[in-house]
Amino acid sequence: MSDDLKTLYGGVTNRRVSTRDLQDAKDRGEKWAMLTSYDMLTAGLFDEVGIPVLLVGDSAGNNVLGYETTVPVTMEDMIPLVRGVVRGTKRPLVVADMPFGSYQESPAQALRNAVIFLQLGAQAVKLEGGARVLPQVQLLAESGIPVMGHLGLTPQSVNAIGYRVQGRGEAAHQLLDDALALQEAGAFAVVLEVVPADLAERVTKELDIPTIGIGAGPGCDAQVLVWTDMAGLTPKGLKLAKQYADLRTVLGEAARAYADEVRGGQFPGPEHSFS
Ligand code: KIV
Repeated sequence: MSDDLKTLYGGVTNRRVSTRDLQDAKDRGEKWAMLTSYDMLTAGLFDEVGIPVLLVGDSAGNNVLGYETTVPVTMEDMIPLVRGVVRGTKRPLVVADMPFGSYQESPAQALRNAVIFLQLGAQAVKLEGGARVLPQVQLLAESGIPVMGHLGLTPQSVNAIGYRVQGRGEAAHQLLDDALALQEAGAFAVVLEVVPADLAERVTKELDIPTIGIGAGPGCDAQVLVWTDMAGLTPKGLKLAKQYADLRTVLGEAARAYADEVRGGQFPGPEHSFS
């Protein structure tokens, strides 16, 4: 078990991380890492190495389902992924991402869909947006559902805002106000995606709750990466993500070697055959 998880647990290692643990980590000045996961195998592995928070992101749209954006992702798409991540883990806090169209209509719609995720075993949900989703955040929080906010580059709004840095110039005030309003409405943490590093640092100082950065510099309380970017499986490297492995090469070489051995008659050999 990594020291990171031990510290976050405060020595207790036989239960799931809670939102309280994340708040305590911020209060102690300890940083932590979140990764996306969409299946039980990677989720179990990330649990094993001590990743304390797993996000079943709607980035599954780009990384699992073959969509160009997250906009087409539905509740039906997300449900089996959340199930797999919950079943594959014992300790990380599992956050289920509310897909586009599953919460914007009304607080009641948001509650209905968040309940589905919580009943599958997720411990929290994430939704995108500031002022316009405050009633949703408030109702979920009052209903006992921990909510993670998401500001800055919110991919579900790509058709309105594009994929570009958010919160520059005058827009910085709006982003800070939104972050404070999310906290006030009951959010337990806020993701800041692709915003200037100095703004993210300021928001982090102003908020009592943890901030989680992606493309937001080192000043946040925590960081999140899409696991396929982190592991180098996604074809194109992104500026916001560091590749800690070259899984694309490793996996490609393994698949090629397997196919070569089948073609050459080396696989299966006697050690992989039954009598
Ligand atoms: O869906 C996702 O993976 C996300 C993270 C990038 C924060 O929302």
